[in-house]
Amino acid sequence: MKPHLWPRSLAGRTAALLLLGLMLVQGLGLTIHALDRVELQGIVQAREIGGRTFSLWRNLVLLPPERRAAFLADLDMPPGLLASYDPIPVVIPGMPPVSPEVERRFRFGGPPPPPAEHESRFQLDNGPPPPPIPNRFRPREILAAAAPPSGFLLSMRFPDVGWLNLRIDPPAPRPWHSESFLYAFIAMSLCAASLILWGVRRLIRPVAQLAAAADALGRDFNAPPLPEDGPEETSTAARAFNTMASRIRRFVEDRTQMIAAIGHDLRTPITRLRLRAEFMEDDDQRRKMLSDLAEMEAMIDATLAFARDDAAKEPSVAFDLAALCQTVLDEAADAAPEQAEQLTYDGPDRLRAQGRPAALKRALANLVANAVKYAGDAKLCLSVDNGAAQIRIEDSGPGIPESELERAFQPFRRLEGSRNRETGGTGLGLTIARNILRAHGGDVQLRNRPEGGLSARISLPLAT
Ligand SMILES: Nc1ncnc2c1ncn2[C@@H]1O[C@H](COP(=O)(O)OP(=O)(O)O)[C@@H](O)[C@H]1O
Ligand SMILES: [Mg+2]
Repeated sequence: MKPHLWPRSLAGRTAALLLLGLMLVQGLGLTIHALDRVELQGIVQAREIGGRTFSLWRNLVLLPPERRAAFLADLDMPPGLLASYDPIPVVIPGMPPVSPEVERRFRFGGPPPPPAEHESRFQLDNGPPPPPIPNRFRPREILAAAAPPSGFLLSMRFPDVGWLNLRIDPPAPRPWHSESFLYAFIAMSLCAASLILWGVRRLIRPVAQLAAAADALGRDFNAPPLPEDGPEETSTAARAFNTMASRIRRFVEDRTQMIAAIGHDLRTPITRLRLRAEFMEDDDQRRKMLSDLAEMEAMIDATLAFARDDAAKEPSVAFDLAALCQTVLDEAADAAPEQAEQLTYDGPDRLRAQGRPAALKRALANLVANAVKYAGDAKLCLSVDNGAAQIRIEDSGPGIPESELERAFQPFRRLEGSRNRETGGTGLGLTIARNILRAHGGDVQLRNRPEGGLSARISLPLAT
């Protein structure tokens, strides 16, 4: 089968295979039925013709020879049977012999077939059975020859004088003669086909559900578990999937708790260190020490905040992504009023999306804050492409060296330029943003714009 005719889905393939099988079985069934019918028709025809010939002969042989021709002329012959009373046989030597098939069915040469049981019963209803023909009335000779295309000639010699010549053309067999059979057959095939389509779709549904659940788990960590009912195999798969999801959830929760615990425990020694630093003689060294310790504390605070947020388990809801983007810009403008003019939004007024709005707001705010911090301006463009929101946050600042574009996402990674700045954060902003977006099934990439500045490109699936 050509690849483009072969369906791609499992349901399509299963249904196609079953339908092909159905067609094959139906075709075979039809052939068997037709052959059987043809055979049956042949037997019935042979019996009918045999019976007719027999009664014709019986009537003629009892008549005086001079009245036979007139009697024949008065008879109504059924289609396919011609009879005449002649002085000579129509079958002459050299004519093609009849086929063995005809020979077997009509049993030439032997005595005429005895009436079958049902025939005699049938005749009983119509009157007394015909008297048996005495031996002296039997044909003295029977000659048979084939008469193309499908008929045959029969010459039977009367015991006294003359021949009964017959030309028999059995009607062609009609395997499909009943119209209702055709309708019944079509109806049966349609029923079977729709049953197959319905059944396959029902049976395959859990596979699609499993795929959807795996996809949902990638976007929403707290997606509801799969229903564990249905046939044995699918419920086993669903149970395995749910177990896997809960293990992953527990694993991540354990890690987050560990980070929180470490961060928390580091605070005490840092506080002690700060107290000790106060006693340092060298002013310069003391200032540096205290600033390092402040940086460490800020990092720990950021880590703790991150871990706390992650554990907050915000539910996934429907929200307006366009409004969220505008809010992020508004809040950035409030934080830096002197740059409010430089913050622009380009996109629809409303865009329905599914996700955790507070987390997403944090991701976008981190990216906008970077643009404001390192460039002093930000342009947020929102559009929809292929069922996913595309957000670009562009600035016209210094950008990031190509080799650092990916590394900037690492935790606590800060580039040289910003290390010494007063504005510096802790280097977790991009890490958190990417983390949140990936948890929604999306991602963020950084790119330097050809005209200068950095562009953060976000893709975010709209529906969970
Ligand atoms: N828009 C930008 N323009 C230039 N550099 C950027 C921009 N955004 C991020 N960076 C660089 O990437 C680093 C990592 O960013 P981030 O994770 O937000 O940490 P932070 O802002 O706390 O320093 C920043 O220190 C900065 O050097
Ligand atoms: Mg930042």
